[in-house]
Amino acid sequence: MIPRLGVNIDHVATIRNARGVAYPDPVRAAQMAVAAGADGITAHLREDRRHISDADIARLRQEISVPLNLEIAATEEMLAIALAAKPHAACIVPEKREERTTEGGLDAAGQHNHLAHYVRALQENGSRVSLFIEADRTQIDAAKALGAPVIELHTGAYAEHFFAGDMEQAELVLQQIREGARYGASLGLEIHAGHGLTFDSVKPVAVIEQIRELNIGHFLVSEAIFGGISSVVQQMKDLIAQARAEGVS
Ligand code: PXP
Repeated sequence: MIPRLGVNIDHVATIRNARGVAYPDPVRAAQMAVAAGADGITAHLREDRRHISDADIARLRQEISVPLNLEIAATEEMLAIALAAKPHAACIVPEKREERTTEGGLDAAGQHNHLAHYVRALQENGSRVSLFIEADRTQIDAAKALGAPVIELHTGAYAEHFFAGDMEQAELVLQQIREGARYGASLGLEIHAGHGLTFDSVKPVAVIEQIRELNIGHFLVSEAIFGGISSVVQQMKDLIAQARAEGVS
C-alpha cells in the first residue's frame, strides 16, 4: 500500500504573515496541493499564531475536499478550537514557544495523565487522534496505553543527519524508525511519519512497510518557489512590457 501524503501548508502562511497581507493564501495552496494529488492537508495552529490562523482553519474545514489533519499542542485553548473545528484528524504535538519548529516528540510516557484527557475528548468528538512521538518503545507503549489509534514517528533527527551528510547517524535513526514502525503496528497502531523530509531523504522512510501516511511541509513549500519562480517573473515582465505597449496611465 502506498503511503498517503499529507501536505502541510503552514509555511505558505508564514510568508503571508511576514507582510501582514492576504497572500499567499494557504487555503489556495491547499486546494492546489489537493488538485496535484495530496491525500490530506495538515496545518499546525500554534499558540503564537506565527503561521496558520484560526480563520485559516475555519476556511480549510469549509473549502478543502480531503481530510484535514490539525496539529495542536495539548492545551485547553487548542482543545476547544479542535472540538469546534472537528477535523478528520488531530495530531497532538509538543510545543515550545521559543522553538523554530517542533523539536523532538511528545513525552507520551511522562505526560500520560495530562494527555489522557485530550486524547479522550478529541476521540469522542470524532477526530482520529495521533501522537507525534519519537520511535521509542516506551513512547509507543504510552501512546497505545493512552488509546490513540495513530502514532506519527518524528523523522526530524533522521532528516537532519541526512541533510548534513552524516549517513551513519541517519541510518541509525532510520533503523529506530523502522523498528518503531514495526513495533507500533504489532500493537495495532496506525503508523505515520514526518518532519524535515525532502526529495532526497523521503524514499528510505516511504519504503517502510508499516507507514500509512507521511506529512511533509517545509520542503514542499520551499521547493514550490523553484517550481514557480520562472513563470511568475516572465508574467511580470510581460505585464510591464504590455503596459508600455498599450500606453495605459
Ligand atoms: N508532522 C508533524 C507532526 C509536524 O509537526 C510537522 C511540522 O509542522 C510535520 C509533520 C511536517 O514537517 P516539515 O514541515 O518539516 O515537513
